[in-house]
Amino acid sequence: DWAAVIPPINLPENSRGPFPQELVRIRSDRDKNLSLRYSVTGPGADQPPTGIFIINPISGQLSVTKPLDRELIARFHLRAHAVDINGNQVENPIDIVINVIDMNDNRPEFLHQVWNGSVPEGSKPGTYVMTVTAIDADDPNALNGMLRYRILSQAPSTPSPNMFTINNETGDIITVAAGLDREKVQQYTLIIQATDMEGNPTYGLSNTATAVITVTD
Ligand SMILES: *[C@@H]1O[C@H](CO)[C@@H](O)[C@H](O)[C@H]1NC(C)=O
Repeated sequence: DWAAVIPPINLPENSRGPFPQELVRIRSDRDKNLSLRYSVTGPGADQPPTGIFIINPISGQLSVTKPLDRELIARFHLRAHAVDINGNQVENPIDIVINVIDMNDNRPEFLHQVWNGSVPEGSKPGTYVMTVTAIDADDPNALNGMLRYRILSQAPSTPSPNMFTINNETGDIITVAAGLDREKVQQYTLIIQATDMEGNPTYGLSNTATAVITVTD
């Protein structure tokens, strides 16, 4: 039998090595009496992308040969084999799962650099104006991919510097002050920021876009 079941291996992306980096050693208990040869198969081993994972045929030591990219492949599913000196299978293949752990290596990207919206003059506070959206290639179920929006600036700042607010999770922009008057201000320009790590200003990565809001008659 195999000496042990191999639990899933969690491997952070973008490792700096050194490579090859040892992961786990597989072993059949029949190698006490027989001279065995170990091998691994599957995408990442003998199928494209080949050679990311290698195994020492004598010792059974599995290693990774290069940094991984979760945004390319988030999970590898390998099978390990043991044969005797004549090439006869001595164990059923064993599964080895490698989960690539996300790092915050992508910043949010707005779908458009300039977003155009409009709002009727005289609108009450709470009137919906528009929605802006950014995406992040990192794991959306981890902090690395969780975005929050905020308004950095509004121009002009009349009749109030905060005529609008943004729902920090949905990107919906709504009015929060009365006094939208087309004869005084025909267009507002907002700079919107999206930040991952749930908007953490220290650790999050950010990007900005512009929202142009036309006040209509
Ligand atoms: C907003 O308007 C500008 C100028 O007319 C245009 O370049 C831009 O593509 C528009 N953005 C969207 C998202 O339609």
